[in-house]
Amino acid sequence: MSASRFARISGLGRSLPSRIVSNDELSTFVDTSDEWIRSRTGIAERRFVSDGETTGTMAIQAGCEALTASRVPPSEVGLVIVATSTPDHQVFPATASMVQDALGLTAAGAYDLDAACSGFVYALVTAGQFIASGSYEHVLVIGSDTLSRWLDFTDRTTCVLFGDGAGAALVSATDRAGGLRSFVLGSDGRGAKHLYVPAGGSRKPPSADTVAAHEHAIRMNGHQVYRFSTTTPADALVQAADRAGVRLADLDLIVAHQANDRILQTVAHNLELPESLFYSNVKHYGNTSAASIPLALYDARAEGRLSDGAMVGLMGFGAGLTWATAIWQWHEPAPRPAGA
Ligand code: ACO
Repeated sequence: MSASRFARISGLGRSLPSRIVSNDELSTFVDTSDEWIRSRTGIAERRFVSDGETTGTMAIQAGCEALTASRVPPSEVGLVIVATSTPDHQVFPATASMVQDALGLTAAGAYDLDAACSGFVYALVTAGQFIASGSYEHVLVIGSDTLSRWLDFTDRTTCVLFGDGAGAALVSATDRAGGLRSFVLGSDGRGAKHLYVPAGGSRKPPSADTVAAHEHAIRMNGHQVYRFSTTTPADALVQAADRAGVRLADLDLIVAHQANDRILQTVAHNLELPESLFYSNVKHYGNTSAASIPLALYDARAEGRLSDGAMVGLMGFGAGLTWATAIWQWHEPAPRPAGA
């Protein structure tokens, strides 16, 4: 590994389904209300895929935008990683292979990575290692999920929280110091039972009975997930900051998994940090799982909150239970040429 090889994000992209479902619309078919959802989560609306839109189609669109923004020719991308727990096909092929083909990544390896809502940071850290080791010049990292396909709309405690979307980052080699400064990856499988889909895998294959029992939908113990989300990932962010030799208070922005605002507010309070340090766009998209952090990076940049050289804390957490934190020094992608 060469000390003069660093990773930078050279292009960002995103894809959002066109169907916007407000809390009021949700209330027409779920026993809930705009007031309950907003006060508990901060979510006002989310996007749901329509027929023809999938994890794969969104990943392709987001990846295409990231590549175009970076001006890197598709043939120079060495690897594509799609972080998802809702792939187009339950067994195979990997969604990443479809992305590789659709984007003309003729020299790229491709695989999916499942670490639930922590998946994008796991994939970004993985890309950082491949770049630092000299294995690849460009790695396309995508987080894409369609959790609306795995919701039980008779379970109001869970179905109101999630939305669909995809975000992508092209990670490229550079000799400018920055990018991935440190990371912490973690898992505690004892908590697997708190957030899971009971059937559809080898443990409980699909059958008429599993469909009738709604066992292909997400089951969640909200209180346990809340307790985990407000403690372990924050400890891991402190650890990542220590490893990078920075203080959390000196970070320019924290981009955490967008599960709900109450979680972010509690983490900010526990870490004695201002809430304004935590970026949030959960109001518009709900919890988009592996897509939430790249979608937040995309919006934060568009809003001018990611300046060149900014130190950013990334904090993913989700089913598994899993967590992934990183300190990433942001370097602006090259501007697109006029008219591109
Ligand atoms: N609309 C209206 N009422 C509801 C709804 C709803 N959608 N859901 C639950 N309620 C009711 C309950 O039935 C209960 O009523 P009762 O007191 O008459 O029994 C009441 O609201 C309170 O229910 P609680 O579960 O205690 O609500 P709480 O304030 O704890 O909030 C929540 C629930 C928002 C799910 C919280 O536990 C939470 O934020 N958990 C984290 C879950 C999360 O973010 N998961 C995301 C996936 S995991 C990840 O991404 C890491």
